[in-house]
Amino acid sequence: MSDTLSAARIDVAQARALTPGCAHVLHFNNAGAALMPQPVLDATIGQLQREAVMGGYEAAAHMAGATEAVYDSVARLINAHRDEIALFEGSSQAWHKAFHAVPLAKGDRVLTASTEYSTNWLSLLRIRERTGCTIEMVPDRPSGEVDVDALAAMLDERVKLVMITHVATSNGMVNPVEEVGRAVRGSGALYLVDACQSVGQLPIDVARIGCDLLAAAGRKYLRGPRGTGFLFVRKDRLAQLEPPVIDIHAAQWTGRDTYAWRPDARRFETLEHSVATRLGLGAAVDHALGWGLEAIAERIAGLSAGLRERLEAIGGVRVHDRGRQRSGIVTFTVAGRSADELMADLRRHGINTTVSRIEAARLDMEPRGLERMVRASVHYYNTEEEVERFAEAIAARA
Ligand SMILES: Cc1ncc(COP(=O)(O)O)c(C=O)c1O
Repeated sequence: MSDTLSAARIDVAQARALTPGCAHVLHFNNAGAALMPQPVLDATIGQLQREAVMGGYEAAAHMAGATEAVYDSVARLINAHRDEIALFEGSSQAWHKAFHAVPLAKGDRVLTASTEYSTNWLSLLRIRERTGCTIEMVPDRPSGEVDVDALAAMLDERVKLVMITHVATSNGMVNPVEEVGRAVRGSGALYLVDACQSVGQLPIDVARIGCDLLAAAGRKYLRGPRGTGFLFVRKDRLAQLEPPVIDIHAAQWTGRDTYAWRPDARRFETLEHSVATRLGLGAAVDHALGWGLEAIAERIAGLSAGLRERLEAIGGVRVHDRGRQRSGIVTFTVAGRSADELMADLRRHGINTTVSRIEAARLDMEPRGLERMVRASVHYYNTEEEVERFAEAIAARA
């Protein structure tokens, strides 16, 4: 089968040649962790090798310029300023630092939606116990996205935080984060976006979104190493936020009883980190920017639409994705087959997927009566031939 989508703006053959994993697996678990391209491997492994021969601190000093450039790359990726970027070891770590910095008190209202990531929801439950704030769900539109008109009608001066997950982890949907931003703007509430599944697969522009805080992972659609992530903190909101922890990186110890926070978003970081994986993250961002996020998004949309269409044509298969705009994440069940067994069987045959579980997506899956779904997530380096092969593998097991 010819790869008609590859005639678009991405040289798929080159993308695959730069991705060693393509020779080994049919990887449809990009929403778990994508296959790293060679420049990411080189940047990460290169630093580990320098650490081995130079010493960890000496190798860090040697690469200080390149490490600083990672902040520029991330800022460019999301149209922010480098002072608004902090680097972390994962998306949740970044998100927690932002969330727990928001001052909340009894009677304050927090608005969120059914697609909010599980960990974020658990954090909300904890903060409600501790502060007495209220959690309110903005209703979904019939198509699944957050209903922005309903959200606008819920806003008042007691709403201190609006939390939205951009791309849902368990149903393929893309939330209208820019529309939400327009509604929230001027309301006084802080706007926190979980972009864990969207960064690297969709163009992200924090100015257009109008968010104050945005957290994302490096290992997923950005194709960075595991254990990487970042946070965007809008500069003019810094003074309103209190980082939940402090150390000698986040602040300067100015006298025995005094300190001064760093003036930039790095006040949310702490000192120790992996330089190797940070350099890998920078290489991943540069790699994505090299292809162009518009081109990446276009190809992922084409491949995932084709995958949904092929799966829906198989008897016994049900695709469970929602939303008018959909992402590279495709969720489905096969009648009479356990999702876990299906995933394991596919993996034995060199096909990577994962399982979306109710325990990790209760707000979304419980109302739909879903317990387990297979999640197949495509990236621009996947091919139409792989989509075809995947559909045949499912058909053979349906
Ligand atoms: C929407 C969303 N947010 C946050 C996370 C957590 O990211 P991390 O594991 O990097 O902390 C995930 C992980 O799958 C996710 O899908």
